[in-house]
Formats: sequence, structure tokens, C-alpha cells
Amino acid sequence: MTPSWESLRNHTMFRTKSIDRLMEHCQGDHALMRVLGPFELILLGIGAVVGTGIFVITGVAAAHYAGPAIVLSFVISGIICILAALCYAEFSAMVPVAGSAYTYCYASLGEIWAWIIGWDLILEYAVSISAVAIGWSAYVVNLLTNVGINLPPYLVNPPGVAGGLINVPAALIILFITAMLIIGMRESARLNSIIVLINVSIILIFLALTYNHIDPSNWHPFMPFGITGVFAGAAIVFFAYIGFDAILTAAEEVEEPQKNLPRGIIGSVVIVMILYVCVAAALTGVVPYGDFIQTSAPVAFALDHIGMPWGAALISVGALCGITSVILVTLYGQTRIFFAMARDGLLPSVFSDLHARFHTPAKITLFVGIITAILACFIPLDDIAELVNIGTLAAFIIVASGILVLRHVQPALVRPFRCPWMPVIPLLCIISCGILILMLPFVTQLRFILWMFIGLSVYFLFGMNHSTNRIDETTGNGD
Ligand code: ALA
Repeated sequence: MTPSWESLRNHTMFRTKSIDRLMEHCQGDHALMRVLGPFELILLGIGAVVGTGIFVITGVAAAHYAGPAIVLSFVISGIICILAALCYAEFSAMVPVAGSAYTYCYASLGEIWAWIIGWDLILEYAVSISAVAIGWSAYVVNLLTNVGINLPPYLVNPPGVAGGLINVPAALIILFITAMLIIGMRESARLNSIIVLINVSIILIFLALTYNHIDPSNWHPFMPFGITGVFAGAAIVFFAYIGFDAILTAAEEVEEPQKNLPRGIIGSVVIVMILYVCVAAALTGVVPYGDFIQTSAPVAFALDHIGMPWGAALISVGALCGITSVILVTLYGQTRIFFAMARDGLLPSVFSDLHARFHTPAKITLFVGIITAILACFIPLDDIAELVNIGTLAAFIIVASGILVLRHVQPALVRPFRCPWMPVIPLLCIISCGILILMLPFVTQLRFILWMFIGLSVYFLFGMNHSTNRIDETTGNGD
């Protein structure tokens, strides 16, 4: 017998989880303390964002794609992130529950879309941990070289890159942070705030040191690769903005989340965009853009170039702090998303097991740590960063669509923060993210399709049958 359209529509795969039920997770005895205000949130956002993108990828992107117009690439990606941040803000104010985009999609689009975004977020979080760690490794190598210690190239690069075999420092930093998270060193807001203040100060010092050395002739030609290069550059430096949504994983610990989450998310993206545009302008003003091809530590390289090796060493230390905080927050965020998915039955329950002594999700943390360390050992940064970008752009498209769908199907829902200019902002977000996806290399698009195909197979073979939504339905506990 063929199933009717109605029975298909009511299939567990398309069922949503009600917002009231989602909110139950953050009420009662297990409620977390609401201690984070807008200032801490903005700092958390900057801590999750400012890392390998600005300290490493800017140079590659200027040399290969956009030239000095990399500044425009940063503006374009930044505006797209502000559009996405407005959509995330509407969701986060309405459902201030941990789990971020995964949870929002469960509420608006249904289980299959929640699964798709959860699987997609593995690219934005887990794979990005490897990419960020590779940037960390580049700055460690740069710093050690500055003090006269030269590590052999085969231990600091992946196969196929500059005589490389395995990137040991990248793996070590991931394993170190994994161990800290297992022992229970959660990213405390105060520690993060200190790291971020160091990081932002380092960037401001860099701007001050380079200001008098800018040679405007380096900005000519401004767009050596044309407008296509600017957009291709935007698709690459988009990586530098990734992570601002990680602050939403702290939703249950925020004071007045309806007001402060939108402020935190939009505030951090705007501040980061201003910093990035200034750094990109200074970098390309000080060094001819083509020279960045020789380095994977462009910010330190620029200071070396103007005869300030001590400045380069200082920047490297600051970059290491900043990049470490990105790895910490991202690894933490990935475990929280897996945790939420396992709690909903979409992943094996072992993923939500807590360690008997440390009370942390040790098994899933170790699993994520080992896999991402292996990736970081053997894959070049560009390949991984592009995959992270496509995954995140797809996540933004799904979140913006979720806002549109929820306004349509549940118009009366209380929305403490409303995304302005509906439906223009989400539509612009969807279109612009789509354009950036098209600007990424074809092989990245193919890898993404393959990844999503594997994800759907896992859902149909496992998640669909183990979903607690389905089990509640059969036992009569559904929404
Ligand atoms: N935005 C993060 C970084 O640049 C992923 O390191």
C-alpha cells in the first residue's frame, strides 16, 4: 500500500519539537546559572571568532584571490555574517536553549532538517577545529624560528606541502585542549575575557606599529583579480568570521537572554568586522600582496618585513592565545551539539555519557579530539578551511529559511527580538550565502555533497529509528 501524503507529512521525520518542550531543558533543578551579560557575550563571541582566519588565511587569500581588495572581501563576508546574525538573533531570543542552529531547526523545520544541520555543523565545528589548529602550528613554527629553533619541515606540514609528512604541533594542541576539557576546565567566561583582551590589544598594537609604514603604492592595482577575485576572496576569508554563533551554545547561562543574545551576537560580528578590515588594509599596505605567498603567518611576516622582529614575536604570542581560545570554544561547542543530538536519540546514547569522576562528556570529547587531531596531521589548511566555509554557509541558509518558515507557520509566537525588514534580510542572507557557495572550488562543492549524502544515510539507517520524538509518539508522550 502506498502511504498517503497526509501520513507522510506526519511522519516523525518531518515532526518538529515544540518550543515549550525545548525550553523544559533549561528549567527546573538542572537549570544553569544565568551569569553572562552582553559584555561577556561579546567577548565570548570575539574569543570564538578571531583566530586562524585573520592571522593566517588573510595572506593566502590576498596573494591568490583578491590582492589588496581583500579589504572588500572582508566587508562582503562581514555583511553576510551580519544578515545571518540577525536571523540567529531572532531564533536565539525565542529559544534560548543550548544547541544553536540544530535546536532551532528542530523547532521550525522538523527532525530531518535538524539532522541535516546537525550533520552540517560537524563541518563548521569539528572540521574547523583541525583548520584552526593548523594555523596555531604555523605561528608556533614562526615563533620558534624567530628564537633560532628550526623544526624539521616533515614534522610541521601535511604530506604534499613544503616537504611535509605530518603536522605534529597541530595535533598536539588539539589533544592538549581535549584533555583540559575532559578534566573539566570549561571555558570560563573570565579566562576567555582575559585572552580576548590580550588578542584585541595585540591587533591594536599591530595597527599602531604598521600605521607609519603603509605605502599606498602597495594598494595599486587594487583589484588585480577583478571583481570575481573579490568574491572568491570573500568565500575564503569568510572563515575568519566563523564561530560567532558559538555564543548561542551558552544561551542557558545568559542573563535576560532575549535582550542580551541579539546584542552579543550582532555586537561581536560588527566589532570583528571593523578589526578585520583595518588589519587587511594594514597588511596589504605594508607588504606587496604577492609576497604573502611565502608565509603562513602573514601578520608576523609584515612586522618582520618592516624590520620589527620583536613585534613579530609579540604578535605570534598574541595570535597563539587567540587561536587557542577558538579551538577551546569550538571543541566545547561541538561536544554540546553532539550531546543535544544524542539526547534527542539521533546519535547513539554513548555520545551523551558523562565521565564518572569529572562529570564531563568525556567519551565524545575524546572522540572529537582524536578525529580532529588526525585530520590536522595530514590535510592542508586550504582544503579544510573551504570545507568549513561551505558547511557554515549552508547552515546560514537553513537558519534563514527557518526564520521565514516559522514566521509563516507560527506567526503568533512571542518573538522578543524580531529580525527587521522581513522577508528581505533572510532572503538576502540565503542568496548571498548561495553566491559564496558557488564561488568555492568545484571539488569543495563535491566533497560537501558527498558529506551530506553520508549524513542522510546515517539518519535513515540509525537516527530516524532511535529518535526520542518517534519513541514519545509511540508511547503517547509526543507534543
Ligand atoms: N573564525 C575562526 C578563526 O578564524 C574559525 O580561527
